[in-house]
Amino acid sequence: KQKIIIDTDCGSDDAMAIAMALNDPNYEILFFSTVAGNVDVDQATYNTLMTIEYAGTYEPPVYRGCDTALIRNMVFAHETHGMDGMGDIGLKVKNSKPTSGHAVNKIIEALDKHDPGEIEIITLGTLTNIALAIRLAPDTMRKVKRITIMGTAGLGVGNVTPVAEFNIWQDAEAAKIVNDFGVPIMYVGWDACIDEAMLNEEEINRIRNSGELGKFVIDCNTCLMEMNKKRFGEYCLDMADPSAIAAALNHECIKECEKYYCEVDTSFGPSYGGVLVDQYRFSEKEPNAYVCSKLKVDVYKDYIFKTLGA
Ligand code: BDR
Ligand code: CA
Repeated sequence: KQKIIIDTDCGSDDAMAIAMALNDPNYEILFFSTVAGNVDVDQATYNTLMTIEYAGTYEPPVYRGCDTALIRNMVFAHETHGMDGMGDIGLKVKNSKPTSGHAVNKIIEALDKHDPGEIEIITLGTLTNIALAIRLAPDTMRKVKRITIMGTAGLGVGNVTPVAEFNIWQDAEAAKIVNDFGVPIMYVGWDACIDEAMLNEEEINRIRNSGELGKFVIDCNTCLMEMNKKRFGEYCLDMADPSAIAAALNHECIKECEKYYCEVDTSFGPSYGGVLVDQYRFSEKEPNAYVCSKLKVDVYKDYIFKTLGA
Protein backbone atom coordinates (compact mmCIF):
# COMPACT_ATOMS: atom_id res chain seq x y z
CA LYS A 1 0.00 0.00 0.00
CA GLN A 2 1.18 3.53 -0.73
CA LYS A 3 1.88 5.36 2.52
CA ILE A 4 0.52 8.87 2.88
CA ILE A 5 0.48 11.72 5.36
CA ILE A 6 -2.47 14.10 5.22
CA ASP A 7 -2.00 17.63 6.48
CA THR A 8 -5.30 19.37 7.21
CA ASP A 9 -6.94 22.50 8.63
CA CYS A 10 -10.03 20.36 9.07
CA GLY A 11 -13.15 22.26 8.24
CA SER A 12 -16.15 20.74 6.55
CA ASP A 13 -14.76 19.92 3.09
CA ASP A 14 -11.58 18.53 4.68
CA ALA A 15 -13.86 16.18 6.64
CA MET A 16 -15.35 14.71 3.47
CA ALA A 17 -11.86 14.38 1.97
CA ILE A 18 -10.48 12.65 5.07
CA ALA A 19 -13.40 10.22 5.17
CA MET A 20 -12.77 9.35 1.52
CA ALA A 21 -9.07 8.72 2.07
CA LEU A 22 -9.72 6.55 5.13
CA ASN A 23 -12.01 4.41 2.97
CA ASP A 24 -9.60 3.89 0.08
CA PRO A 25 -8.10 0.41 0.58
CA ASN A 26 -5.10 1.18 -1.65
CA TYR A 27 -3.57 3.65 0.79
CA GLU A 28 -2.30 3.64 4.31
CA ILE A 29 -2.54 6.96 6.10
CA LEU A 30 0.41 7.03 8.50
CA PHE A 31 -1.00 9.97 10.41
CA PHE A 32 -2.77 13.29 10.09
CA SER A 33 -0.99 16.53 10.84
CA THR A 34 -3.11 19.56 11.61
CA VAL A 35 -2.60 23.23 10.93
CA ALA A 36 -4.49 26.47 11.50
CA GLY A 37 -6.40 27.69 8.46
CA ASN A 38 -10.15 27.29 8.22
CA VAL A 39 -10.25 27.36 12.03
CA ASP A 40 -7.63 27.49 14.78
CA VAL A 41 -5.36 24.49 15.09
CA ASP A 42 -7.05 23.04 18.20
CA GLN A 43 -10.40 23.07 16.48
CA ALA A 44 -8.85 21.60 13.31
CA THR A 45 -7.34 18.82 15.44
CA TYR A 46 -10.66 18.18 17.18
CA ASN A 47 -12.49 18.07 13.84
CA THR A 48 -9.96 15.63 12.38
CA LEU A 49 -10.42 13.27 15.34
CA MET A 50 -14.18 13.52 14.98
CA THR A 51 -14.00 12.70 11.27
CA ILE A 52 -11.87 9.62 11.93
CA GLU A 53 -14.49 8.43 14.43
CA TYR A 54 -17.32 8.89 11.93
CA ALA A 55 -15.35 7.25 9.11
CA GLY A 56 -15.14 4.15 11.29
CA THR A 57 -12.30 2.40 9.44
CA TYR A 58 -8.90 2.70 11.14
CA GLU A 59 -7.47 5.33 13.46
CA PRO A 60 -4.20 6.94 12.38
CA PRO A 61 -2.64 9.24 14.99
CA VAL A 62 -3.43 12.96 14.78
CA TYR A 63 -0.57 15.36 15.53
CA ARG A 64 -1.27 19.02 16.23
CA GLY A 65 0.85 21.39 14.14
CA CYS A 66 1.37 25.12 13.65
CA ASP A 67 -1.10 27.51 15.20
CA THR A 68 -0.30 30.49 13.02
CA ALA A 69 1.13 31.43 9.64
CA LEU A 70 4.85 32.17 9.29
CA ILE A 71 4.45 35.94 9.02
CA ARG A 72 0.92 37.22 8.58
CA ASN A 73 -2.02 37.09 10.93
CA MET A 74 -4.52 34.50 9.81
CA VAL A 75 -8.13 35.15 8.93
CA PHE A 76 -10.20 32.05 9.66
CA ALA A 77 -12.99 30.92 7.32
CA HIS A 78 -15.86 30.92 9.83
CA GLU A 79 -18.36 32.25 7.30
CA THR A 80 -17.73 29.34 4.97
CA HIS A 81 -17.39 26.48 7.44
CA GLY A 82 -18.99 27.76 10.68
CA MET A 83 -17.47 28.87 13.99
CA ASP A 84 -16.53 25.24 14.70
CA GLY A 85 -15.55 24.59 11.08
CA MET A 86 -18.17 21.84 10.97
CA GLY A 87 -21.35 23.74 10.19
CA ASP A 88 -22.19 24.75 13.80
CA ILE A 89 -24.66 21.90 14.22
CA GLY A 90 -23.29 20.60 17.50
CA LEU A 91 -21.10 17.75 16.23
CA LYS A 92 -18.83 16.34 18.95
CA VAL A 93 -15.86 14.02 19.35
CA LYS A 94 -16.75 10.86 21.27
CA ASN A 95 -13.47 9.65 22.85
CA SER A 96 -10.41 10.38 20.79
CA LYS A 97 -7.44 12.57 21.71
CA PRO A 98 -4.51 13.88 19.68
CA THR A 99 -1.21 12.03 20.03
CA SER A 100 1.62 13.93 21.67
CA GLY A 101 4.40 15.37 19.51
CA HIS A 102 4.48 18.32 17.13
CA ALA A 103 3.24 17.65 13.61
CA VAL A 104 6.35 19.19 12.02
CA ASN A 105 8.67 16.88 13.96
CA LYS A 106 6.49 13.88 13.18
CA ILE A 107 6.56 14.62 9.44
CA ILE A 108 10.37 14.80 9.53
CA GLU A 109 10.65 11.63 11.66
CA ALA A 110 8.40 9.68 9.30
CA LEU A 111 10.37 10.64 6.20
CA ASP A 112 13.60 9.94 8.01
CA LYS A 113 12.50 6.40 8.88
CA HIS A 114 11.33 5.49 5.37
CA ASP A 115 13.12 5.06 2.06
CA PRO A 116 13.06 7.85 -0.51
CA GLY A 117 9.79 7.82 -2.43
CA GLU A 118 7.94 5.71 0.13
CA ILE A 119 5.76 8.51 1.51
CA GLU A 120 3.46 10.89 -0.27
CA ILE A 121 2.12 14.03 1.40
CA ILE A 122 -1.28 15.53 0.66
CA THR A 123 -2.08 18.98 1.99
CA LEU A 124 -5.64 20.20 2.47
CA GLY A 125 -4.78 23.43 4.27
CA THR A 126 -2.13 26.10 4.53
CA LEU A 127 1.44 25.00 3.97
CA THR A 128 2.93 26.18 7.25
CA ASN A 129 3.81 22.72 8.64
CA ILE A 130 5.39 21.56 5.41
CA ALA A 131 7.39 24.78 4.99
CA LEU A 132 8.79 24.51 8.50
CA ALA A 133 9.68 20.85 8.00
CA ILE A 134 11.53 21.84 4.82
CA ARG A 135 13.44 24.58 6.63
CA LEU A 136 14.31 22.27 9.55
CA ALA A 137 15.29 19.18 7.60
CA PRO A 138 15.66 19.84 3.87
CA ASP A 139 17.60 16.65 3.10
CA THR A 140 15.03 14.48 4.85
CA MET A 141 12.15 16.27 3.17
CA ARG A 142 13.68 15.58 -0.23
CA LYS A 143 12.76 11.92 0.35
CA VAL A 144 9.08 12.67 -0.21
CA LYS A 145 7.59 11.01 -3.28
CA ARG A 146 5.32 13.91 -4.10
CA ILE A 147 3.33 16.65 -2.42
CA THR A 148 -0.23 17.07 -3.68
CA ILE A 149 -1.55 20.44 -2.64
CA MET A 150 -5.15 21.60 -2.59
CA GLY A 151 -4.26 25.14 -3.50
CA THR A 152 -3.94 27.83 -6.17
CA ALA A 153 -6.61 29.16 -8.48
CA GLY A 154 -5.36 26.63 -11.03
CA LEU A 155 -5.74 28.25 -14.44
CA GLY A 156 -8.78 30.19 -13.29
CA VAL A 157 -9.77 32.80 -10.73
CA GLY A 158 -9.25 32.72 -6.98
CA ASN A 159 -11.78 32.38 -4.17
CA VAL A 160 -10.47 35.01 -1.72
CA THR A 161 -9.20 37.59 -4.20
CA PRO A 162 -9.40 37.60 -8.00
CA VAL A 163 -6.07 35.76 -8.12
CA ALA A 164 -5.64 34.02 -4.77
CA GLU A 165 -7.04 30.79 -3.40
CA PHE A 166 -7.54 30.48 0.36
CA ASN A 167 -4.93 27.84 1.30
CA ILE A 168 -2.08 29.66 -0.47
CA TRP A 169 -3.25 33.12 0.59
CA GLN A 170 -3.46 32.14 4.31
CA ASP A 171 0.30 31.62 4.36
CA ALA A 172 1.83 32.61 1.05
CA GLU A 173 5.35 32.72 2.52
CA ALA A 174 5.02 29.07 3.50
CA ALA A 175 3.60 28.24 0.08
CA LYS A 176 6.59 29.92 -1.54
CA ILE A 177 9.02 27.77 0.46
CA VAL A 178 7.22 24.61 -0.62
CA ASN A 179 6.77 25.74 -4.23
CA ASP A 180 10.46 26.59 -4.62
CA PHE A 181 11.82 23.52 -2.81
CA GLY A 182 12.22 21.32 -5.88
CA VAL A 183 10.41 18.09 -4.98
CA PRO A 184 7.56 16.82 -7.20
CA ILE A 185 4.45 18.92 -6.60
CA MET A 186 0.92 18.72 -7.93
CA TYR A 187 -1.42 21.59 -7.25
CA VAL A 188 -5.10 20.79 -7.48
CA GLY A 189 -6.51 24.20 -8.28
CA TRP A 190 -9.74 25.79 -7.16
CA ASP A 191 -10.95 25.54 -10.77
CA ALA A 192 -10.96 21.73 -10.50
CA CYS A 193 -13.81 21.71 -7.97
CA ILE A 194 -16.24 24.27 -9.36
CA ASP A 195 -18.86 24.31 -12.14
CA GLU A 196 -19.90 20.73 -13.05
CA ALA A 197 -17.57 19.31 -10.40
CA MET A 198 -19.79 20.76 -7.66
CA LEU A 199 -22.20 18.37 -6.01
CA ASN A 200 -25.78 19.22 -6.95
CA GLU A 201 -28.82 18.78 -4.73
CA GLU A 202 -29.53 15.25 -5.95
CA GLU A 203 -25.95 14.15 -5.32
CA ILE A 204 -25.95 15.83 -1.92
CA ASN A 205 -29.10 13.91 -0.98
CA ARG A 206 -27.69 10.65 -2.31
CA ILE A 207 -24.73 10.98 0.05
CA ARG A 208 -26.75 12.28 2.99
CA ASN A 209 -29.27 9.44 2.77
CA SER A 210 -26.65 6.71 2.50
CA GLY A 211 -26.01 6.29 6.22
CA GLU A 212 -24.33 7.81 9.27
CA LEU A 213 -21.09 8.73 7.49
CA GLY A 214 -22.92 10.23 4.51
CA LYS A 215 -25.10 12.30 6.81
CA PHE A 216 -22.04 13.50 8.72
CA VAL A 217 -20.00 14.60 5.68
CA ILE A 218 -22.96 16.53 4.24
CA ASP A 219 -24.40 18.04 7.43
CA CYS A 220 -21.01 19.38 8.54
CA ASN A 221 -21.11 21.44 5.32
CA THR A 222 -24.34 23.19 6.38
CA CYS A 223 -22.82 26.70 6.42
CA LEU A 224 -21.27 26.24 2.99
CA MET A 225 -24.52 24.89 1.57
CA GLU A 226 -26.49 27.81 2.99
CA MET A 227 -23.94 30.25 1.58
CA ASN A 228 -24.17 28.63 -1.85
CA LYS A 229 -27.95 28.60 -1.71
CA LYS A 230 -27.89 32.41 -1.30
CA ARG A 231 -25.30 32.76 -4.04
CA PHE A 232 -26.62 30.33 -6.66
CA GLY A 233 -30.28 29.96 -5.62
CA GLU A 234 -29.90 26.22 -4.94
CA TYR A 235 -28.07 23.87 -2.62
CA CYS A 236 -24.76 22.79 -4.07
CA LEU A 237 -21.29 22.02 -2.74
CA ASP A 238 -17.88 22.98 -4.08
CA MET A 239 -15.71 20.28 -2.56
CA ALA A 240 -12.13 21.57 -2.82
CA ASP A 241 -10.38 19.09 -0.56
CA PRO A 242 -12.23 16.03 -1.91
CA SER A 243 -11.06 17.07 -5.39
CA ALA A 244 -7.44 17.06 -4.21
CA ILE A 245 -7.85 13.69 -2.49
CA ALA A 246 -9.44 12.24 -5.63
CA ALA A 247 -6.69 13.58 -7.90
CA ALA A 248 -3.98 12.31 -5.55
CA LEU A 249 -5.38 8.87 -4.80
CA ASN A 250 -7.15 8.01 -8.03
CA HIS A 251 -5.38 9.42 -11.09
CA GLU A 252 -8.28 8.25 -13.27
CA CYS A 253 -10.15 11.26 -11.91
CA ILE A 254 -7.76 13.72 -13.55
CA LYS A 255 -8.77 15.34 -16.84
CA GLU A 256 -6.30 18.18 -17.28
CA CYS A 257 -2.95 18.35 -15.55
CA GLU A 258 0.13 20.04 -17.04
CA LYS A 259 3.53 20.95 -15.71
CA TYR A 260 4.23 24.69 -15.60
CA TYR A 261 6.65 27.09 -14.01
CA CYS A 262 4.79 28.36 -10.94
CA GLU A 263 5.66 31.24 -8.65
CA VAL A 264 3.94 32.33 -5.44
CA ASP A 265 3.37 36.07 -5.09
CA THR A 266 4.44 37.17 -1.60
CA SER A 267 4.69 40.87 -2.36
CA PHE A 268 2.26 42.81 -0.18
CA GLY A 269 0.14 44.07 -3.06
CA PRO A 270 -3.21 43.25 -4.58
CA SER A 271 -2.08 39.87 -5.88
CA TYR A 272 -0.60 38.61 -2.58
CA GLY A 273 -1.12 34.87 -2.29
CA GLY A 274 -1.72 34.36 -5.98
CA VAL A 275 0.25 31.70 -7.82
CA LEU A 276 1.49 32.73 -11.24
CA VAL A 277 1.15 29.76 -13.54
CA ASP A 278 3.33 30.43 -16.56
CA GLN A 279 1.10 28.79 -19.17
CA TYR A 280 2.78 30.49 -22.12
CA ARG A 281 6.32 30.11 -20.83
CA PHE A 282 7.06 33.83 -20.64
CA SER A 283 9.75 33.21 -18.05
CA GLU A 284 11.52 30.46 -20.00
CA LYS A 285 12.10 28.79 -16.64
CA GLU A 286 11.87 25.02 -16.20
CA PRO A 287 8.36 23.91 -15.22
CA ASN A 288 8.39 23.08 -11.50
CA ALA A 289 4.85 21.94 -10.63
CA TYR A 290 1.92 20.08 -12.09
CA VAL A 291 -1.33 22.01 -12.05
CA CYS A 292 -4.48 19.93 -12.16
CA SER A 293 -7.20 22.26 -13.37
CA LYS A 294 -9.98 19.88 -14.41
CA LEU A 295 -11.35 16.56 -13.25
CA LYS A 296 -13.30 13.94 -15.14
CA VAL A 297 -16.48 14.79 -13.33
CA ASP A 298 -18.20 11.39 -13.62
CA VAL A 299 -15.18 9.41 -12.49
CA TYR A 300 -14.53 11.88 -9.68
CA LYS A 301 -18.09 11.76 -8.37
CA ASP A 302 -18.17 7.96 -8.59
CA TYR A 303 -15.00 7.91 -6.50
CA ILE A 304 -16.70 10.13 -3.90
CA PHE A 305 -19.78 7.89 -3.81
CA LYS A 306 -17.74 4.70 -3.66
CA THR A 307 -15.41 5.77 -0.86
CA LEU A 308 -18.30 7.19 1.17
CA GLY A 309 -20.49 4.14 0.56
CA ALA A 310 -23.22 6.23 -1.09
C1 BDR B 1 -9.65 25.50 0.55
O1 BDR B 1 -9.85 26.47 1.57
C2 BDR B 1 -10.57 25.91 2.66
O2 BDR B 1 -11.66 26.73 2.98
C3 BDR B 1 -11.03 24.56 2.21
O3 BDR B 1 -10.99 23.66 3.30
C4 BDR B 1 -10.08 24.18 1.13
O4 BDR B 1 -8.94 23.52 1.65
C5 BDR B 1 -10.39 25.94 -0.68
O5 BDR B 1 -9.88 27.15 -1.15
CA1 CA C 1 -8.97 22.60 3.91
